[in-house]
Amino acid sequence: MMADEILTVSGLSVGYGDIGVLQDVGIRAWSGRVTAIFGANGAGKTTLMSAIAGLIPARSGSVVLAGRDLVAASANRRFVAGISLVQEGKRVFHQRTVEENLRLGGYRMGRRERAAGLDGAYDRFPVLADRRAARAGSLSGGQQQMLAIAQALVSQPKVLLLDEPSAGLAPIIVAELLGTISTLSSEGMAVVLVEQLVGQAMTVADHVIALQQGRVVIDSPAAGVDGDQLHAAYLGEQDHTVV
Ligand SMILES: Nc1ncnc2c1ncn2[C@@H]1O[C@H](COP(=O)(O)OP(=O)(O)OP(=O)(O)O)[C@@H](O)[C@H]1O
Ligand SMILES: [Mg+2]
Repeated sequence: MMADEILTVSGLSVGYGDIGVLQDVGIRAWSGRVTAIFGANGAGKTTLMSAIAGLIPARSGSVVLAGRDLVAASANRRFVAGISLVQEGKRVFHQRTVEENLRLGGYRMGRRERAAGLDGAYDRFPVLADRRAARAGSLSGGQQQMLAIAQALVSQPKVLLLDEPSAGLAPIIVAELLGTISTLSSEGMAVVLVEQLVGQAMTVADHVIALQQGRVVIDSPAAGVDGDQLHAAYLGEQDHTVV
């Protein structure tokens, strides 16, 4: 069965002030698949995720979700339409409880839907259910990242954008996180995953994009990606260990 192409980004150009960062970038995401985005520091990965979520404007191009171009829509409208982003270095609200943090993820939803979203989050992450009344700041780093992802899932998005979710986590927690990503994708979620840990991310990736200086240099099914080519995409900018 052909997977459903739910997100199509094309011809996207984005910059800050006079400085162009993304040039004519295209990426796709499919329901039930993981699109992994790789690239050296400064390649434009976070800029791309932010532009898809509507946090920074595009100079040109389109961001089509389920047939609707949202490139001119606000971040809120994109969120309501089904694009949910866990930002790089995302921090949960430490002084708030786990439950309060989750409620924030569903703040635009009706009561019943939000309650269902919270139940879903607790089913998926039992550790959060056990700690629902605890302050988020008392959770471990890995649990806080799970909370950030759980918060992004409360709204039951069509596309989940994850910007370096493994950063700063211990290897065993990274493995758990990849397990969660793999489960979400097998349930039908379209996941776009930005990762520095190329080897690990390749274990869950169905499709690979590599960015180099704001341009797409690889756009390929994961099975067809050449490791040397991927490595070169990094080395093109700087000496950077990828595996
Ligand atoms: N707010 C900003 N204002 C000006 N330039 C910016 C801004 N944010 C990012 N840049 C520049 O845009 C380019 C791409 O940055 P971006 O953060 O998207 O890269 P990245 O691939 O996410 O890097 P990293 O691997 O370090 O997270 C870099 O040259 C960066 O210096
Ligand atoms: Mg980044």
